[in-house]
Amino acid sequence: MMNVLLRGGQVFQGGSFHPLDLRVDQIGLVELGKDLSPTPDDRVVDISGKYVLPGLADIHVHLREPGFSYKETIATGTAAAARGGFTSVGAMPNVAPPPDNLPELLHQIQAYQQEALIEVFPYGCLTEGGTGTGETVDYAALEPYVIGFSDDGFGVQSTDRMREVMTQVAEVDGIVAQHIEDLEISADGYINDGEYARAHGHKGKPGAAEWTQLERDLALVAETGCRYHACHLSTARSVELVAKAKADGLPVTAETAPHYLVLSEDELEEDGRFRMNPPLRSARDRDAVAQALVDGVIDLVATDHAPHSAEEKAGGLAASANGVVGLENSLAVVYTHFVRAGRFEMERLVEVMGTAPRQRFSLGGGEIIAGEYADLIVFDPDFHEPLDPGQFLSKGKATPFAGRELYGRVDLTLCQGDPVWDPEGLFA
Ligand code: DOR
Repeated sequence: MMNVLLRGGQVFQGGSFHPLDLRVDQIGLVELGKDLSPTPDDRVVDISGKYVLPGLADIHVHLREPGFSYKETIATGTAAAARGGFTSVGAMPNVAPPPDNLPELLHQIQAYQQEALIEVFPYGCLTEGGTGTGETVDYAALEPYVIGFSDDGFGVQSTDRMREVMTQVAEVDGIVAQHIEDLEISADGYINDGEYARAHGHKGKPGAAEWTQLERDLALVAETGCRYHACHLSTARSVELVAKAKADGLPVTAETAPHYLVLSEDELEEDGRFRMNPPLRSARDRDAVAQALVDGVIDLVATDHAPHSAEEKAGGLAASANGVVGLENSLAVVYTHFVRAGRFEMERLVEVMGTAPRQRFSLGGGEIIAGEYADLIVFDPDFHEPLDPGQFLSKGKATPFAGRELYGRVDLTLCQGDPVWDPEGLFA
């Protein structure tokens, strides 16, 4: 193997981009400098016009193992992550059996160590069984191994149970990452309770299912002091509540997913690739969520990468499983609709897709440091084509962005010195 000398790119260093050359040696260590001269051991690659970013982090991913390897595996999910520019992901615990006890959690961590291409950080269940209705779990036992606790897919329904959960998670200084949904309000709705549902005879799920539970949770955060992370925000009212909680100094952060930033019920089609939970909301909600990412009320973008089989997504809006994939297009979606559209700079993209999730969930990494193992991506901002899910490495192909013209492509991903996405074979 040779060294690879990347010349002429814009390299992220100390919070902003600088014209620097970057050499990655045979064991994966970084050298940085202005105009590095090639040596006979270097393969020189011109990356002018491209960016070198620290490896991105997605703290909301479903890898589906154990239990659902027909939807995704640790191997395929982390290969998809590498292709999308991520070197660290947080794995949601709605798998079977769920990691609601230490032996099962350790078993799953062992599988990540054996099969993952990139770094995988587990969540532990928030309640026994992981469906928002169980007893509290042994948070103290799990906390050293997890980045947070979540029953993603379900909100904790009972207020008394949530108070117990937050009191106990606060005692171990953990984070509650809550899927916010009041199931009584959701009832049997499956797309937004709005114009499209009414016009096409679908059952609507009101935005209040999200924000009423969020309001309850934020009151409990004030009461317990528990660190709280709001998953996949989708409504304007949720954004207002988070803004107020932050102004009040509560230990609260929030994420949203690319589809809530860019799409609304106005774009719905009678196709399972438009079905996820929470659903695409009104254009007004979408605009408020997007503005909150610009303003910093929403801290970070997470994909909620939720692969299902083709059969499970073939039931249209009414009968498909909830969930769309995101690992392989989220960078291009955020780049196209925020950076290229002039809503924020590349630096904010690195923050919302890298630095912020790494800091909030204490993942480490997120910087390109001379003398250390390379954990970085080369990003070509000018490449563009209509999104083709047929190219995904994920087993899941369902995305509402299919066919949409997106800018940006990851040319190379190095994870702790290892080339984990190298389609041009630079390190071959
Ligand atoms: O659409 C979703 N799919 N939303 C969730 O909260 C869960 C996820 C899944 O696990 O498929």
